[in-house]
Amino acid sequence: MYILGMESSCDETSASVVEIIDEKPYIRSNIVASQISIHKLYGGVVPEIASRAHIEAVSRITHEALDEAGIKISDLGAIAVTSSPGLIGALLVGVNFAKSLAYANNIPLVPVDHIKGHVAASYFADEALKPPFLALVVSGGHTSIYHVKDYTEFDELGTTRDDAAGEAFDKIARVMGMPYPGGAALDKLAYEGDPKAIKFPSPALHGDNLDFSFSGLKTSALNYINSNTQKGIDISYADVAASYTDCVVKAITSKVSDAIDKSGAKYFSISGGVAANSHLRSSLSRLCERKGVKFAMPEKHLCGDNGAMIALAGYYEYKKGNFADTYLNACAYSPLD
Ligand code: KG4
Ligand code: ZN
Repeated sequence: MYILGMESSCDETSASVVEIIDEKPYIRSNIVASQISIHKLYGGVVPEIASRAHIEAVSRITHEALDEAGIKISDLGAIAVTSSPGLIGALLVGVNFAKSLAYANNIPLVPVDHIKGHVAASYFADEALKPPFLALVVSGGHTSIYHVKDYTEFDELGTTRDDAAGEAFDKIARVMGMPYPGGAALDKLAYEGDPKAIKFPSPALHGDNLDFSFSGLKTSALNYINSNTQKGIDISYADVAASYTDCVVKAITSKVSDAIDKSGAKYFSISGGVAANSHLRSSLSRLCERKGVKFAMPEKHLCGDNGAMIALAGYYEYKKGNFADTYLNACAYSPLD
């Protein structure tokens, strides 16, 4: 069976064809049209510009995805589309396009939650991964730990009370003059600095919980940069990147460690754009090794937003019979939040 996955929740328009053979997923195409070059002029995503850019790209990239997979629209068994959460105007482009395509060609339409899509990327990483397991989703909009009960049913065990990890990386990177989104550049720069040079407050919340708060850390780093700059004191951006990254990685690793202990999970996965962070990947790999827990992590190109993860999450919704009709609407928040 072939499934078309469509993603337009933020600043990437993506369409992908995933083929399922004997319950195993194979990515036949995964076209991602990034809007980064447009938004970087403004230092962040401008929602109205994002919506327009999705409109310009959506038809072209869908045809590209079908062509690259070597199939026709009529070969599709389902069309899966991100319907929540995200920027509402951006989501609406994908939802309306998918609805029209499904209706005109009489193909089942499957709505997909973006967070479940990110988690589905882990199944490409490891064929043996099956629910139940523990999943961390770290992206520009989310930092949450889930108990994945079933392919389509998640319980949230912990989350951020304010900003997401990706947002916190991007903000500091921006203040240090790196273009949006600065997460990947900060990841690299962190290798050149001393992770112990500056003491920042941990985003891991105290107490018996699995929650985070990134706003205090963000403010503390901004104050460090601004006050030293105002005083004319030279600061090492590499040290800031290394110390800041170390602080985030330690906090996430410690909460994941608690989550593994509390849940008794034997399998753990990470996904979302920040899951591409090399420091986080090695710290969590080491943790899982120590605890004897199997670890699934998607290849870096499947960590960020892409249609393949939506197609696969859509396949699991399809199997559950979770279809939508032409009344499907987009929703800015996730029912998981
Ligand atoms: O999942 P994603 O593509 O979009 C959302 O759903 O938000 O995640 C984008 C986020 C951005 O904040 C970006 O800076 C961050 O992922 N990111 C990274 C790295 N690569 C991307 N953050 C830290 N280290 C990286 N290597
Ligand atoms: Zn995402």
